[in-house]
Amino acid sequence: MDSIRITGGVPLSGRIAISGAKNAALPLMACGLLTDEPLRLSNVARLADLATMAQLLAQHGIEVRAEERELSLGGRISNTEAPYEIVRKMRASILVLGPLLARTGEARVSLPGGCAIGTRPVDLHLKGLEAMGARIRLEGGYVEASAPRGLRGVEIVFPFVSVGATENLLMAASLAEGRTVLKNAAREPEITDLAKCLIAMGARIEGLETDTLTIEGVKALHGAAHDILPDRIETGTYACAAAITGGDIFLENARAADLGAVLTSLREAGVEIAEAENGFRVSRANGLRGVDVTTEPFPGFPTDMQAQFMALMSVAEGASLITENIFENRFMHVPELARMGARINIQGASAIVRGAAHLTGAPVMATDLRASVSLVLAGLAARGETTISRVYHLDRGYEAVEEKLAGCGARIERVAAA
Ligand code: UD1
Repeated sequence: MDSIRITGGVPLSGRIAISGAKNAALPLMACGLLTDEPLRLSNVARLADLATMAQLLAQHGIEVRAEERELSLGGRISNTEAPYEIVRKMRASILVLGPLLARTGEARVSLPGGCAIGTRPVDLHLKGLEAMGARIRLEGGYVEASAPRGLRGVEIVFPFVSVGATENLLMAASLAEGRTVLKNAAREPEITDLAKCLIAMGARIEGLETDTLTIEGVKALHGAAHDILPDRIETGTYACAAAITGGDIFLENARAADLGAVLTSLREAGVEIAEAENGFRVSRANGLRGVDVTTEPFPGFPTDMQAQFMALMSVAEGASLITENIFENRFMHVPELARMGARINIQGASAIVRGAAHLTGAPVMATDLRASVSLVLAGLAARGETTISRVYHLDRGYEAVEEKLAGCGARIERVAAA
């Protein structure tokens, strides 16, 4: 297995082009199941998770053609089963459930397996589809869903915010009979991007960017072209890279509006952010201060930025209280950061980070996507050499991470497994 070797201590400087958002691309690709006509997606990043989704769609009968930064999806659904061998690689595979069911009246989708960052059930997805008239059985590790007479519109009040459940039901409701109202819906920018693509395909959706989405079902959706929004988590990660190294990086295509809470926390910590038309510049000339953050659904501080912010806080002056409200067990980066000299204590869902004067390079192991990139950030700031193993986690969600960082002066390289 490949690893990444970093020699820390270089203040990064230069420009990084932000790629299209992974978490938007996944549901957008699932939209390929909602029509036989071609769906063209542009600004698509080259990521392992998107290759997994393409593989899943291909075995449902959807042809996925990749060209440069574009994906063309088209074709008829020939198989409504999503097998364990693919679903186990990526939880977001559950996003095919709503579209398959809405389109064909049946679906058999493997339950996603255990996940490193908590139990992550899919009960809200299933309850919502049931409320829309589907019959759901769990059999042999699979969700078996049927709606022979189609799905019907209904009002669904989510007991708590779920990005994936909102996406699954939004797609399903677009082809249901009558009106669906989703209350306490997620309003992450990726949801809005999905809704815009569905509207371009002929869906009737109101309430974009709010927590109530109203969908008037239509009989059929048609082909469309959609440009995927820039990845806000990749953006926030490289903003932390500039901050942790005391560097100066311009993030091209980045959208500050999608990162409000993160930018506020960075500014409080002493990082300078200068917004421009086509992105923003992140720099730090002085010391970092400890800042408290709590993860919340959008527009709050995103859980997908928690590990990176913790790496940053581990070299700040003073203490920082970081509370994880979305996932249990999302502190797996803590013992690895501690191996590099970070001083972090976990108390239930919170971590108290006491800033250290410096981190020291060490061999560390990636455990999930965001945890692994937090180790990259720590390695960029640390004295000496850091080797991060199991980098396949990084490749799931960060396109060309070592090229982008090396382009700003980082001493970083991928070491192929012997
Ligand atoms: C998505 C993102 C992920 C991000 C997360 C929260 C994608 C592909 N992934 O994941 O990167 O960290 O949003 O912003 O977009 N839950 C239930 N039952 C359900 C569904 C969720 O209990 O049926 C719980 C989860 O375990 C979690 C919380 O709800 O504790 C939020 O999860 P959710 O928003 O659904 O996350 P994902 O869509 O899986």
